[in-house]
Amino acid sequence: MKKTIAVLQGDGVGKEVTAGAVNVLKVIADRFDHEFHFEYGLIGGEAIDQQGVPLPDETITLCKNSDAILLGAVGGEKWNSIPRHLRPEQGLLKIRKELDVYANLRPVTVQGALADSSPLKREYVEGVDCMIVRELTGGLYFGRPSERVERDGEEAVVDTLFYKRSEIERILRSAFEMAQKRNGRVTSVDKANVLESSRLWREVAEEVAKDYEDVKLEHMLVDAAAMQLIRNPKYFDVLVTENLFGDILSDEASMLAGSLGMLPSASLSSDGASIYEPVHGSAPDIAGQNKANPIAAILSAAMLLRHSFDLHQEADKIEDAVERVLAQGYRTPDIADGEESVSTDKMVDVIIEAIQAP
Ligand code: NAI
Ligand code: MG
Repeated sequence: MKKTIAVLQGDGVGKEVTAGAVNVLKVIADRFDHEFHFEYGLIGGEAIDQQGVPLPDETITLCKNSDAILLGAVGGEKWNSIPRHLRPEQGLLKIRKELDVYANLRPVTVQGALADSSPLKREYVEGVDCMIVRELTGGLYFGRPSERVERDGEEAVVDTLFYKRSEIERILRSAFEMAQKRNGRVTSVDKANVLESSRLWREVAEEVAKDYEDVKLEHMLVDAAAMQLIRNPKYFDVLVTENLFGDILSDEASMLAGSLGMLPSASLSSDGASIYEPVHGSAPDIAGQNKANPIAAILSAAMLLRHSFDLHQEADKIEDAVERVLAQGYRTPDIADGEESVSTDKMVDVIIEAIQAP
């Protein structure tokens, strides 16, 4: 298979972990006889330094001409004082908009070897295997108006929660399709006892469910879901929800695994290239020290192979390798619990060795 992958390393540890993920993909290409071309583009703080904007036009063109995008993370102290519309994070929001990435997938799995890194007791988290599907282009974050107003003679504020039926339908379809490949259950999370948007969401979910008879649908209110994620996280298979609820619940769920350094994500595009990136940010506190955990970025590369190229055997190979080195006891500092740890580079090396092993 011949593919072009855009690599946007970004800032801080984004660079370090993305380099590791690219090396892993090169080894996979070798082993399975694929041709992957890696094309590098600027985003975030580095793009601001070199070109004055967080997302240069060349980067947008590069992404649109690629088959998939591997992203690191953006941001850092250095750019915190510049005006908001020019900040590194604007680069991320813009590329998501440009590519119309509407579904954010965040798998949370807690395997035996890592259950002890979780703040929750081992028996609650060992065996957690859920996929959070968050709507990414609508809802409160993009609704207009969003502004200060005056009401009854005092300062007031309005944000708008807006969704089109088609936007709700496509994210729910993604969730049902995901459930078909997993354990056949969708939990649709809303606040239908209060919000009109949630009542439409529920209606559409019921309609979509008719097309997926092998998938079991249930509805859960968002406050109950927040509780259930802590009380019984093993309960969930696919959890699907709108933008704001998904932002909060996916961060909550990410803590089950103990470290941000373990968590990959995918943002699927409606028609063009999809974006794969670790959940974590640029981690300025450990940047440049060869300390960052590269596993989130490497597992993001596995998601890229699986969801954009349909290369399941290759993705399995990477995931198995990660599992194997963790079982052998290799740990970066974030998951070492004060015990002996290895560097970013060493972790990448042992994962590559595990991939190459017969
Ligand atoms: P962060 O995710 O960068 O770091 C939070 C904590 O987790 C830090 O203690 C960090 O050392 C640790 N951590 C993160 N990734 C790690 C890894 N791979 N291995 C080991 N430890 C890791 O979030 P924070 O500190 O809130 O933000 C730092 C910068 O990153 C900010 O400028 C923020 O805007 C940006 N950011 C960017 C994101 C993106 O590009 N998608 C997402 C979140 C934050
Ligand atoms: Mg967030």
